Amino acid sequence: MRDLEQQILTGEEEKKLQYEYMDKVRQIVKAKEEEKGRRLTCCVKTFGCQMNARDSEKLVGILTDVGYVETEDEHADFVIYNTCTVRENANNKVYGRLGYLSTYKKKNPDMMIALCGCMMQEEGVVAKLQKSYRFVNLIFGTHNIYKFAELLYRSLTSDGMIVDIWKDTDKIVEELPVKRKFSFKSGVNIMFGCNNFCSYCIVPYVRGRERSREPQDIIREIKGLVADGVCEIMLLGQNVNSYGKNLEHPVTFAELLRMVNEIDGLKRIRFMTSHPKDLSDDLILAMKECDKVCKHMHLPLQSGSSRLLKLMNRHYDKEQYLTIVKKLREAIPDIALTTDIIVGFPGETEEDFMETLDVVKQVEYDSAFTFIYSKRTGTPAAAMENQCDPKEVKEHFDMLLKEVQAISTKKAMALTGTVQEVLAEEENEQDKRLITGRLSNNSIVHFPGDCSMIGNLYQVRLTECKGFYYLGEIVS
Ligand code: SAH
Ligand code: SF4
Ligand code: F3S
Repeated sequence: MRDLEQQILTGEEEKKLQYEYMDKVRQIVKAKEEEKGRRLTCCVKTFGCQMNARDSEKLVGILTDVGYVETEDEHADFVIYNTCTVRENANNKVYGRLGYLSTYKKKNPDMMIALCGCMMQEEGVVAKLQKSYRFVNLIFGTHNIYKFAELLYRSLTSDGMIVDIWKDTDKIVEELPVKRKFSFKSGVNIMFGCNNFCSYCIVPYVRGRERSREPQDIIREIKGLVADGVCEIMLLGQNVNSYGKNLEHPVTFAELLRMVNEIDGLKRIRFMTSHPKDLSDDLILAMKECDKVCKHMHLPLQSGSSRLLKLMNRHYDKEQYLTIVKKLREAIPDIALTTDIIVGFPGETEEDFMETLDVVKQVEYDSAFTFIYSKRTGTPAAAMENQCDPKEVKEHFDMLLKEVQAISTKKAMALTGTVQEVLAEEENEQDKRLITGRLSNNSIVHFPGDCSMIGNLYQVRLTECKGFYYLGEIVS
């Protein structure tokens, strides 16, 4: 039945169906409220990347639309974990926390527990949950998240565990409710899935094939967000540089950026993630020419060794990567560069690691996320026989981290005393007299101010650098 529905319903019909389910669930929630004499609460916990964070906003959108009140507290009536599986420890975290949830549920037997996201798409996970975590009420994956209202209805009207995992989908359903975490900024999906199959990475297996949204749908969403008070957006995709290639009328990411840059009222545009193999000269030019595009590029390196990059299936080598960096810096001299690096990919030798260190020293990243390689079952790298010695990997990892930190401190220090454009983002948690804002290059600065400033841009002098953040003051 489900497959049939998937084939027959258009995106528009699917949307209508989900709104009908929301009406039905609203009745159920209302009845429960009357029975309990209080509002019902929901708690959505997000693991993983920006993509998951955006999905969670969609889940909260539906839950609050049907009457739940959002809370951070996991003692809620409806708790959902939106999971990540990119590294093994992401999975372990979820299993650990599920243990706690079962004790909460013993105290509140009406409590509903749901799991969704990338980890649910991984082989073996659902079987394990079905066997050892019977108290979970609802399990679904990444491809049918737009069916959440319907799944919610099904789980609220049945006793057992509802499991619905799809292998893939080609459908994109627009305009379901969303509740943003921040009033002034928002992620915007421009594409879903990934076709790159880097040999270490599980994402293409759990997020499915690449699908781009139509540019007019993206623009319409952003205009709606701007009308609702958003001034900064982050365009989201696993590889934004390959955006639009498979659309009926292909559009490049550079073209999309130019269109988004035209939107009145929008102040800042960010995007992630860029894959070096698809980074075009056109994009560099668009970044340079579009005044709203932030001067920041997250450009995952993964490894500086051309030999390993080949084994990783990354489709660029050390020299090509360095050439892109050179072009970016020539076009946008003050651009901030950040990256992701994996240490301990199977077969990584001392020489390979030294190549990575060499790139790190040459590029001088403003910051870098460093990861120890995690073996993901089902990926080609997991089957490689020459897995590294954990002790050596840890030594390399520590060495890399030290280098990365020394460079980012040096880079941050260099901006001390300069005046930068800053977006006021939130009240400082420790000191209410301060406002926390962000530079175009993504660094953080705290400066005197009040809540009325949130969402506006200011010229701020960076008076002191504290390593990972600055203290500053507004210059008039
Ligand atoms: N699409 C993005 C990255 C998504 S995953 C890109 O291609 O850059 C985020 C980061 O997790 C990756 O950049 C990589 O550095 C890291 N990662 C992915 N798989 C990993 C694994 N098996 N072990 C360790 N780190 C991994
Ligand atoms: Fe994973 Fe590579 Fe796709 Fe990024 S581009 S999500 S690292 S397969
Ligand atoms: Fe994790 Fe899925 Fe993102 S595996 S990194 S949450 S796409």
